[in-house]
Amino acid sequence: MTDVFDAVSIIAAKRDGNALTDGQIDWTISNFAQGKVADEQMAALAMAVFLNGLDRRELVRWTQAMIDSGERLDLSGLSRPTVDKHSTGGVGDKITLPLTPLVAACGAAVPQLSGRGLGHTGGTLDKLESIPGWSPFLSPEAFTAQLEQIGGVVAAASSDLAPADRRLYALRDVTGTVESIPLIASSIMSKKIAEGTGALVLDVKVGSGAFMRDAARARELAETMVAIGTDAGVRTTALLTGMDTPLGFAVGNAVEVAESVDVLRGGGPSDVRELTLVLAEEMLRLAGIDADPRAALDSGAAYEAWRAMVRAQGGDPDAPLPKAAHQETVLAPRSGRVVAADARGIGVAAWRLGAGRERQGDPVSFGAGVLLAKRPGDLVEAGEPLATMLADDKGRFDRARGLLAESFAIADPSAEFSAPALILDRVD
Ligand code: URA
Repeated sequence: MTDVFDAVSIIAAKRDGNALTDGQIDWTISNFAQGKVADEQMAALAMAVFLNGLDRRELVRWTQAMIDSGERLDLSGLSRPTVDKHSTGGVGDKITLPLTPLVAACGAAVPQLSGRGLGHTGGTLDKLESIPGWSPFLSPEAFTAQLEQIGGVVAAASSDLAPADRRLYALRDVTGTVESIPLIASSIMSKKIAEGTGALVLDVKVGSGAFMRDAARARELAETMVAIGTDAGVRTTALLTGMDTPLGFAVGNAVEVAESVDVLRGGGPSDVRELTLVLAEEMLRLAGIDADPRAALDSGAAYEAWRAMVRAQGGDPDAPLPKAAHQETVLAPRSGRVVAADARGIGVAAWRLGAGRERQGDPVSFGAGVLLAKRPGDLVEAGEPLATMLADDKGRFDRARGLLAESFAIADPSAEFSAPALILDRVD
């Protein structure tokens, strides 16, 4: 006989610090997904979880219940091993763009189901949509065929994938319950497990531009997600990577696509190239593929895979990318050495310039963003450009100028400076 529960006693149990039974978790998530547990009840339970946590058994069950609320893709028929990467989000984090075709060119299938940006961190789909003609919407058949033939797909997740998470995330966003390690971990992992990948590398960002600003919390999040993935039979590892400074020089949509193409053509900023290669090595190791991603990048094989991926989704890889109508530079107020370029400040400035959206569903400006002229460690003369602001609407410069200028710290040229580490730790 199926157990009968009521939402109020489940909320009270978690409020009082008790562990929920498997039956209580399954009942709550399934009824919430069907609209039978009210939003206010689920919001109260999210707050109780925020305050009292979930133990390992509860977390695994909660994640499984979110997966079971929708469809689970089956990619077992592919001839290539599947492996994916997920970043917890950062500023200038365009790594999915060069990484997906690179790992595909090495023989894996990379099923990237991505999202759009909200707030100061950009979204992969917004960046790719700046390519004329490119579409993130694929039928399940086209998705699988592209994975088999080219090896890489970046597409929008269907609403049938972990629908309970979609509803819960929207509630958490407006009830102060986003920054909970069990809720973040189960939210991310339910979508990644439902997507059907056999292996997963997590890029957990740490620093001013990240969800988790301190390394201890980021490590706890990484360990929690690795445990969930492993328990679900997905080979999962995590790297903790620095996010105090944006990745590369470009922050926005089209400008990040252009920088990614530079990396795919063998150039580009050294940090973007390096992180792409480190994550590719990790993904290939988990997929059991013995290939050298450096060779695939330098031979042009990864660039060819990128062109094929863009074309397969209706895009023209040779079309000029959209440009912002206006630009304005922010100049250095003094001479010296740049010792900080704060990721959060620069991310918020790019967002205010139109690269991001304030509310779900708002359009983004493809050409808007920030191009850094100087990064930490560089010497600068007073009056030299620190960064260029890009916007379609000149009025937006007033909202970003001060914040962008304040994001740079300039010290004496002789000031001690050590470059921030790109890879901070790993969890497997
Ligand atoms: N990304 C997600 O998908 N879920 C969270 O809870 C946080 C970030």
